This record gives sequence, structure tokens and C-alpha cells, in this order.
Amino acid sequence: MADFLWWRDGVIYQIYPRSFKDSNDDGIGDLPGITEKLDYLQDLGVDAIWLSPVYPSPDFDFGYDIADYYDIDQKFGGMAAFDKLLVEAHNRNIHVIMDLVLNHTSDQHPWFQQSRSSIDNLFRDWYIWKKSLKDGKKPNNWQSRFGDSGWELDKNTEEYYFHMFFKEQPDLNWRNPKVVQEILDMIKFWLDKGVDGFRLDVFNAYFKDADFKNNPYKMGLTKFDQQKHINDIDQPEMFDFLKKFRSLLDSYPNRYAVGETFMGDHQTAANYMGDKALHGAFDFSFQSNRYNPASFFKTIQRWEHVLDQKGWPNYFINNHDVIRSASRYTKSEDDDRLKILATLMMTLRGTPFLYYGEEIGMRDIPITKKSEVLDPVGRHFWPFYKGRDGCRSPMQWSEDQFAGFSKQKPWLPVHDNYSWRNVESQNSNPESLLKFYKNLLRIRKMNQVFQKGMYLPITYEPHKLLAFIRQTADQTALIALNFSKRHVGLVLSSQLLSGDWKLLISNKRDSFPTVRDRKIMLEGNEALVLLNG
Ligand code: NOJ
Repeated sequence: MADFLWWRDGVIYQIYPRSFKDSNDDGIGDLPGITEKLDYLQDLGVDAIWLSPVYPSPDFDFGYDIADYYDIDQKFGGMAAFDKLLVEAHNRNIHVIMDLVLNHTSDQHPWFQQSRSSIDNLFRDWYIWKKSLKDGKKPNNWQSRFGDSGWELDKNTEEYYFHMFFKEQPDLNWRNPKVVQEILDMIKFWLDKGVDGFRLDVFNAYFKDADFKNNPYKMGLTKFDQQKHINDIDQPEMFDFLKKFRSLLDSYPNRYAVGETFMGDHQTAANYMGDKALHGAFDFSFQSNRYNPASFFKTIQRWEHVLDQKGWPNYFINNHDVIRSASRYTKSEDDDRLKILATLMMTLRGTPFLYYGEEIGMRDIPITKKSEVLDPVGRHFWPFYKGRDGCRSPMQWSEDQFAGFSKQKPWLPVHDNYSWRNVESQNSNPESLLKFYKNLLRIRKMNQVFQKGMYLPITYEPHKLLAFIRQTADQTALIALNFSKRHVGLVLSSQLLSGDWKLLISNKRDSFPTVRDRKIMLEGNEALVLLNG
């Protein structure tokens, strides 16, 4: 299609590589496994894959603690496997987005090993080191997101270093120009390899206040939430870096960057988007929406309003850090609600992000015993928070042992429902969620209105109905989503109803709905998409 821009008009699919497909039967997913499944992804209709980190890592935080930015971990198949994946993905017109974790490294990274070795080591000021205050007190009140103080006393040199996450993830000192230069060189290395884009982990936390001022206090549950993060997040220097980063990206054709907005709302995310900043930044509110039209409607309105046609929206309801939408929004194995949300995601104005397994309605695996928890955050906060293992279980490919993910016992258990909830079985069932997703992605790709059309809300009824249109000069699409189990009537203006409408997709009917008194009756749990033009 003319004018198709992959990151704006396409669909991005997040892969958690440890859990996608294990090619060498060691129980851990790997890059050759992903390569093996590219045909599946092409058939699903995605335009890009975002790989959660695959760099060498001691895996304290499962890859979000990088020990070498210039290589690929051997457990994932090493650099040769990455090069092959890149070529094979590109052959199928699938773009590849790498995860960049630049706020911190692993404590095993040679830079940190050097840095902690002595006060006058050349790498000392690559990290954030501070002397203790009088009486051995910590340098200030900054906290770690993952619990307790953000300052760790290093016995070797009797100074504190700062870590926004675990102490095994020391924060880089972004005020050191050598760090910034090194990071830009490293990004260039991946761009030269042909990588199409990056997802920046907690990017708005890179810079900290130059004077290390304390954060003011506020009400909250955890110590971290009891602070206003005005001095350890969202510092103005970030914009200067983003400008450099963007101009590097723009010196290559069609590259893309999306940032994980840390602790920020839609307004914060919007501030970081633009021609001299990021193409996209995540607004996390969709993930905390309740299953009702009002909640989604308000989020969409807010996002549309704050972006004001300047920034490009993106939408996601799943990732590797939260309970899967299927487990959040349904207690049963019924997929009706998931079809409603799938339709919403694929028809909104903006780039949809899918998380592996979302397309087959994977549920979280239950986490019941602390001794079985692998996620360090779950171990730390147990039993108040059980961590993120639940949403990271192996992809369910087939009814074979271990869901066809591996021939060995996988690193995390496979969900019990795998024998019937899997790709193979859903591929042979025309009513399945997977088939529904495929249809939605196909419809989205074939009709420009879903990529470029204006978003115009029509109506929402708090517990029942959400309806909106997408419109270009040539096409109008009507999207009506019945969030309730009962019939709901959608009344339309005669102006809107005129013209030649056809049914594009519905999970409840095969032919165009009857229109009586300008009213369309929707079935309970129906997702309906009509097209004019
Ligand atoms: C955000 C990532 O999404 C999460 O998985 C990770 O634990 C933290 N950043 C720390 O890197």
C-alpha cells in the first residue's frame, strides 16, 4: 500500500525471547526459535517485532540488566543467530526493534566492575557515586522502585552508588559526556547492522538532579510511591539527549524509537514525543482500565486530546510487566471480552502493540509458592505482590508436551490450559480468537481508514457501549463495541447511515445488521465493524 509507514500504520508484536520458542531444547527460548516462527508472525500479519533484551546478562532481572551492549547472549544463540533473524525477518517485511536498557547496566558489566574497583578508576564517574553524609547517612532520600533505599554502600571504596531498580542494576551517570557518547556509538552499531528501531527502557529516568536534591513526600503505599519524583526522574537534560538520539536515528531511513515512560501519565508521555524527540512514548493508563466503555473511552479521549494531532498515539494492554489482559478481564476461559478489546486495539487511531500469546488469549500461570518465584520483584515483595512470572510463561504452540515450546522442562511452567488453548488448535477453528485477530489485522492493513483516518467518538454508555468512527476522505468505518452481555441498540444519525455500508467483521454475525428506526441492535458481547467506501 502506498505511503505505508511500518511503525505508524503497522502492528508491533512484543516477544519475550526466553518464552517464545526454544530451538535447542534447553528450556529457554532463543533467537533461532523466533526465526523458526517468523512465518507464523507473517501469517498473523504483524509488521514488526520488539525483542525484550537479548544481550549478555546475568539475568538478575532477566535481561533488563545488561552486561555487554555489543553482543547477543549465547543462551539466545549469539550474534550469528541475531544476524540470521534480522535477515529472515526483513525477507518477510517484518521490522526488528531492540530493547535498550540504558538507565542502568548489570553490576557485572565491565564498566561497573572497573568503576567500583577504585575512586580514581577511569570508569568511576560512569556511575552515580556519592559520599555518605555525616554519621554515615545516605546521600539523599531517593528510593529504589524495587524496594528500599536507592543507595547502596560499596564496601570497597566506602561510597554509595545509586540504583533506581535493584542494587544489581547500578544507574549510569548520564551527566558524564563520555557515557552519552558511548551510548550513541553503541546505538549506531545496531543501526549499522540494520536494526529498525528501539524501545527505550525507563528512558525518562536517565538524568537525575545535578545537586541530588531530596524528593518531596506525598501519600502512597510504598516508600517509592510516598515521594514526588521531581528530582530523580524527568530532568530537562533529557530533551538534549533525545535531540541527538533522534538526529542519529534520522540519518538512517525509516528508523523508529518508542520510550517506556517511567511513572509518567499521558501528559508526560506526550511531552517526549515530536520531531526532535521520540516517535512514540507509552501511556500506561490503558493497562489499568477496568472492563467498561467509560474507562476506555476516557483514556482514548485524554490521549487524543493531549497529543492534539501532533504526536502519534500507541495502544497496548499487555506487556512483560503486568497481569495479562485475559486474566485481568476474565475469570473464565471465555474469549468474548478479548474479541471486544482486540477490535478496539486494531481500529483505534495509533500503533497497536501486541504481546506474544495475546492473540490466543493466553492467561497468566498461577503463582502460589514463594519458593517457585523467579522474578526478583516477586521474591522481594512477596506476598503483597507475586511478581511478573505469571505473564511470562512459555508460548502455547500445540498440544504436544510443554505446549510445543521445548522438549525440555521450560524455565517457567506452561499454563495448564495449553492442551486446548494453543496456536495449532486455534488455527483450525474458524471461531477462535487467533482467527479473529488475523482477520482484524488483515482488515486493518487493507483499509487505510484504520491507519490514517480521523478518530471521532459517537457515543458511549458507561457499562454497555462504545462506538466511534474512523474517517478519511474516501472511507468511513463505524466501530461499535458492546461491553455488556445483553442486546444494546446503537442509534445513528441518518446522515451517518447514508451511503453504501458493508460488514467488515463481527464476532456475532455473518451478514449486515438490520437497521430499524436508525437503530442497529448489537448482540451481547458483540464487536461490530462496518465500512462505507
Ligand atoms: C522496565 C522493564 O519493563 C522491567 O521489566 C524492568 O524490570 C525494569 N524496567 C528495570 O529495567
